[in-house]
Amino acid sequence: MLDLNWGDPLASPVRQTDNDYRAYKDIPQVEEKQNETPKIRMAPVNPEDKRVINGHTDINQLAPFKYPWAWNFFLNANKNHWTPLDINMAQDVHDYRYKLTLEERHVYENVLSYLTTSDILAMRNIGLAVMEKMSAPELQIYQARQVYEEALHTWTYQHCIETIGLNQSEIYNRYRVVPEIHQKIALANRRLNSVLRSDIDLTDPDELHNFVISYMFFAAIFEGCWFYNGFSPIFALQRRGLMKGTAEQLQYIMRDEVMHASFGIRVVKQIIHEEKLKLDPKAIRDMWDESYAAETAYTNYILKDPILGYSAEMHLGQFRHIANRRAHQLGLDSEPFPGAEATLPWLDEQANLRKEKNFFETRVTEYQTGGALTWE
Ligand SMILES: [Fe+2]
Ligand SMILES: [Fe+2]
Repeated sequence: MLDLNWGDPLASPVRQTDNDYRAYKDIPQVEEKQNETPKIRMAPVNPEDKRVINGHTDINQLAPFKYPWAWNFFLNANKNHWTPLDINMAQDVHDYRYKLTLEERHVYENVLSYLTTSDILAMRNIGLAVMEKMSAPELQIYQARQVYEEALHTWTYQHCIETIGLNQSEIYNRYRVVPEIHQKIALANRRLNSVLRSDIDLTDPDELHNFVISYMFFAAIFEGCWFYNGFSPIFALQRRGLMKGTAEQLQYIMRDEVMHASFGIRVVKQIIHEEKLKLDPKAIRDMWDESYAAETAYTNYILKDPILGYSAEMHLGQFRHIANRRAHQLGLDSEPFPGAEATLPWLDEQANLRKEKNFFETRVTEYQTGGALTWE
């Protein structure tokens, strides 16, 4: 027999976080009489009382929304649905074996090696470290979708690795033995581990500051720069007619990542506003500098030998340009790399599949299932 005491929310088996506890603790206790359905009187949730973090409203009640934009992110995310099995990889197998140079294989393998480790890290960050700290359900709903998408991305890389026939042990362990790949992973892991604690008290100013900087790093740099620009070397192969299946897979991922970055930046700005937080300019400067240093080492490793149509200078120039864009989106006072120009002017178009069609394959790459999407 079920033993659910509906009259006493504190006894609810679905209590999830301390936010739930704070949400329920002020609810008046209910008088129970035997053989009578308990009557409960709970005040309706006022959406204006919701907060991104440190909120006390009912985390299980989706609407009315305080953050309707978050719900729209969820709806838009569901318009970009695919699986890696939908995309024809046959030509990629041929290209990898017979067309790529050794230098191009080096680029392809190391980009995949970095990405697959990174996306698992991204999944753990949003699902384990960020989502539980949100106190408005409309934010958690999109983040739940984001967790799924990060897992889908990992499946996509695994599908590419399997299809091409790469040595899985070697590819997956590469970040453990190549310092230039390891450096980026270690940097992100350090930030993640600093907020991956259930005992964090976000009413503490230092803890709050650290959490916001970490979320900012993941949204604006890890996803907004490293991922956004991280697919570019393979897009450069695609532009020469090589590895087009892999590149198409990465275009779908890129669309997700643009949304992840935009959403995260918006959440970070909302927290700063609600908590009246003053960010330490040095912490932000350090974030850009260490990310750029790690990206420089990584880029010089994957592109240590030049390939046709792409170079380390182009990659790093685009990083600086995109970093400035993210700083603007965050509303920061200054650009991290003043005056940096786009060195890959075609990159933004890669995020827009509607302009790209594979005329030589049976399938049109327009896979959007709903209305027009805006990405940034
Ligand atoms: Fe991802
Ligand atoms: Fe992501």
